[in-house]
Amino acid sequence: MARVICIANQKGGVGKTTSSVNIAAALCQLKKRVLIIDMDPQGNASSGLGVKRFGTQDSSIYQVLIGEKNLHDVLQQTSEEGLFVATANPDLVGAEIELVDFERREYRLKDSIATISDEFDYILIDCPPSLGLLTVNSLSAADSFLVPLQCEYYALEGLSQLLNTAGLIKKGLNPRLSIEGILLTMFDTRNNLSHQVVSEIKTHFADKVFEAIIPRNVRLSEAPSHGQSIFSYDSKSIGAKRYLSLAKELDERVQKRILKSQTSEPAKATEQAQQPDNSPAPEPQGEVNA
Ligand SMILES: Nc1ncnc2c1ncn2[C@@H]1O[C@H](COP(=O)(O)OP(=O)(O)OP(=O)(O)O)[C@@H](O)[C@H]1O
Ligand SMILES: [Mg+2]
Repeated sequence: MARVICIANQKGGVGKTTSSVNIAAALCQLKKRVLIIDMDPQGNASSGLGVKRFGTQDSSIYQVLIGEKNLHDVLQQTSEEGLFVATANPDLVGAEIELVDFERREYRLKDSIATISDEFDYILIDCPPSLGLLTVNSLSAADSFLVPLQCEYYALEGLSQLLNTAGLIKKGLNPRLSIEGILLTMFDTRNNLSHQVVSEIKTHFADKVFEAIIPRNVRLSEAPSHGQSIFSYDSKSIGAKRYLSLAKELDERVQKRILKSQTSEPAKATEQAQQPDNSPAPEPQGEVNA
């Protein structure tokens, strides 16, 4: 079963898509099978991976969400080995409204991911810069969410709203949702403010902050216009090196968590076997913990 990670922040331009594409490509470097689901009508993850948004008008995540197509049938191979994408196009804007009358409207993405989860090790969801139904579907489908924060003065603005939304989703829709980590992006070594933002965020979020920090790197901003990840475009760049370190760190965290859950499963099973049949189900937690 794939680990499903949602890359979310309702603030625009913080590096969600750049991180989705390059973490996915870095995980492929680690020989993982990876899928990116582009949930942003801007379709930047699709075009950034060289898959034309308008060439896939009838085979995008929009058709999957409204039930016209199976997720498996819209997957496209990208130019990166082992990396697939479910594309987005501007039709997806309509899905926010159309889905309102659908059954299980918050679970449309989760239900479709369940049909292909065994084909991948990781599924990354690139979210739009909003907290609407597309992001709600993404958080409802995910095991965890990763928050890119730009190393700028207003970095923390809106973060409490995102954590609050995730907490509500955990409580009402997806009890297993946890925070995967906070990723600091566009770090500028020459800028004092960048250093201040990093230390403030580390004070607030401690070990939730990934050790790998993504610097501002012009090669990272050039790669999408060539339809390539940073590994195909310039594998020697600092951007490529940092995204590879990040993917290793992420994979280690995930493997540790899987091991921990496997070792606690037998204990839990014994505990459950000892409980009387009419014992109440545990209440879902409102807070989002790692
Ligand atoms: N580390 C970086 N160094 C330099 N430029 C970067 C870096 N990360 C992202 N960028 C550039 O910053 C801009 C915003 O990045 P990106 O599109 O990844 O953000 P986003 O959060 O997905 O935006 P949106 O909210 O619009 O979806 C893009 O032009 C991108 O190329
Ligand atoms: Mg984006």
